Amino acid sequence: MRKFIPGFLIFTAFLMALSSDLIAQKKINVKKQFELAEKQYALMLKTHPDTDKTPQSVNPDGSLRDMPTTWWCSGFFGGSLWQLYEYSKKPQWKDAAHLWTMAIQKEQYNKGTHDLGFMVYIPFGRGYQMTANPLYKKAMLNGAESLSTRFDPKVGVIKSWNNFKGHKYPVIIDNLMNLDFLFWASRETGIKKYHDIAVTHADNTIKNHFRPDNSSYHVVLYGPDGKLDGRVTHQGAADESAWSRGQAWSLYGYTSIYRDTKDGKYLDQAIKIADFFINHPNLPADKIPYWDFNAPNIPNEERDASAAAIVSSALFELAGYADKDRKSKYTSMAIKMLESLSSPAYRAKLGENNNFLLKHSVGHKPGKSEIDVPIIYADYYYLEALMRYDKLRK
Ligand code: GLY
Repeated sequence: MRKFIPGFLIFTAFLMALSSDLIAQKKINVKKQFELAEKQYALMLKTHPDTDKTPQSVNPDGSLRDMPTTWWCSGFFGGSLWQLYEYSKKPQWKDAAHLWTMAIQKEQYNKGTHDLGFMVYIPFGRGYQMTANPLYKKAMLNGAESLSTRFDPKVGVIKSWNNFKGHKYPVIIDNLMNLDFLFWASRETGIKKYHDIAVTHADNTIKNHFRPDNSSYHVVLYGPDGKLDGRVTHQGAADESAWSRGQAWSLYGYTSIYRDTKDGKYLDQAIKIADFFINHPNLPADKIPYWDFNAPNIPNEERDASAAAIVSSALFELAGYADKDRKSKYTSMAIKMLESLSSPAYRAKLGENNNFLLKHSVGHKPGKSEIDVPIIYADYYYLEALMRYDKLRK
């Protein structure tokens, strides 16, 4: 039997869909945001032609802060340039992205850091996706091997830093962001070791890094036999606080681990983290978090636009894996975050903000470094979130 649906209901639904789309289009004009980003990064390239150091942030004296390629953020500028190429298809962005990607090629052999997912996989991976350049693939395979040397099977996790206040095996929550790199390398080469390291790290992080409320510690200190020596913070407000970017990395991390494995326990973990983040009573109305959910002087604390950009991008993806209710909740939250980031409160105008795209991020407040400034990774995840939003609407 055919169901009869009154015409006015169809029309109302049509109008609602149309108007919500129009509202979204009005608030986030992806084309305009990318056009502005192209102009801002063209100025960045003009004023910062030296590829020995990559644009990072702004110094307290207002000058551009740039960092050597060994710095954990060195891949984000190249990664952002690849995104300008992906969106615009203009050859000038491909050339610039290639230049800034190759500028950090020596980091593929860097065994002194866990951050190779950010430094190598982001620029070379985006470049490889766009061009299939075999040089990029080679750099990534070397990078994945370098990263894997930081895994000790007796401990069961990838070591983040070589030393933290005398502890020899600290692991930070951010480390989850490296696992997509290892899963890729395993698929590409058939080497099972990379897959096994990633899964073991992901499982032990669920076991040891999370609190009963699904927030995470920043740093877990492991002994040589894998026993826990402590759980502390480095960049958060307190050992027991929820540092916002740490929560963002873990949400993005488990979303991508689910994509790589299709194992439901990682989806469950990502959902628990998302629900902690988006339902937190200290998340402000514009959905851009304070730098720490438990910062002592809320509401008089700095926001962290970078955490919002990472979460917005992650939620667009997670929405695609979640049930119907969560899909709509996560999508609307991702859009709200992106709307705020695209508003004049956070989005820089042409010629200001040392040519970075977003204002108001916090790098390391307890270390008195990069407080309420633009930071390159906020720009990178903002561009990614814009593209994910754009794809959703096509
Ligand atoms: N991975 C360090 C940070 O998020 O600041």
